This record gives sequence, C-alpha cells and structure tokens, in this order.
Amino acid sequence: MAVKEIVKYPSPVLEKKCAEVTKFDEKLAALLEDMYDTMVAADGVGIAAPQIGKSLQVAIVDMDDGQDPIELINPVVVAVGGGEVDIEGCLSFPDLFGEVERPIYVKVEAQERDGSIYELEAEDFTARAILHEIDHLNGVLFNSKITRIVTLEELEEIEAEFEEEIEANIESLEERQGEER
Ligand code: CO
Repeated sequence: MAVKEIVKYPSPVLEKKCAEVTKFDEKLAALLEDMYDTMVAADGVGIAAPQIGKSLQVAIVDMDDGQDPIELINPVVVAVGGGEVDIEGCLSFPDLFGEVERPIYVKVEAQERDGSIYELEAEDFTARAILHEIDHLNGVLFNSKITRIVTLEELEEIEAEFEEEIEANIESLEERQGEER
C-alpha cells in the first residue's frame, strides 16, 4: 500500500484505452490499495488506474458517504438516463474545473476484485463520478467534455454559498430543537 504520484495531463497513458483485467490476483488487490491510498491523499472522489500509470480497466469511486468504495473492474455501462450539467474536476488536471453534462442515472456491469460479476445502479453525483472514471478507462478526459470553464474564484464563491447554506440549516435545526424543549 502506497501513495503514488498522480499522472498529470498531458500524458499518453491518460489518452489510451486501458487493457482488460484478466488476472484477479494479489497484484490487482495491491493496485486497488495503491489507487485508494492515492485518491484519499489527493482528496479525490474517484481515481482510474491510468492516473497512477497503469493502463488497466480498474477504477474506484468513493463519495466519502460512509459507503464502501465502489471498485470498478472491466466496467461496462449498460444503461443511462436523464442529463444534468454540473461542475467537475479531475486529479490529473489540478487547476481545471468546468461544467460537464452527464446522465443522472447509470447502470453498470463490472467485476469485483475476485472476478465475480456485479451490477450497480447509481444516481446524481455518484453516477457522474462513475461515468467520469469509466471515461478514463477509455482514454477519454473530462476536458474534452467541458462546456464552460469555471474559474477558481467562481468555485470559491460557490463553496462559500454552500457553507452558508449548511450553517443556516444547522441554525434553523438548533432553533427547532430549542422550541421542542
Ligand atoms: Co479524472
């Protein structure tokens, strides 16, 4: 287990289709551990194997919501639905953020680290993160899908608004609890 260096754009490994995983062995488990550690150290919600220099169809999505990380090995998108524009970033583009339209629902067939096949349905930002990572495995990068670049200043403003909203929610919750007493 180790934190690896993240491959930044431009790099050929980021833009080629990754090879299918055929061996579900200790090396694959070690790769997943390295990817996870690297993602957490970089404060990301997802990572794909080419981002640590391995051109293999392996990706992780972890929304930090108390659920187990989603491990996607040889994933295939079997259904999508809806569409929404939201802001995305990518560990391979440290200073780039932009609006990207993606489906709001996705159904994926993938393999676990032991090779067993599973199906997964996801919505909203989880669906977005899954589709972003699957794009990586096909050598497709999010910069090619950005319809509007979001500046760091804009991003900070949005984050500040979001924090204000959370604070207001906490305050009204506290008020309500006070009334109940
Ligand atoms: Co990315």
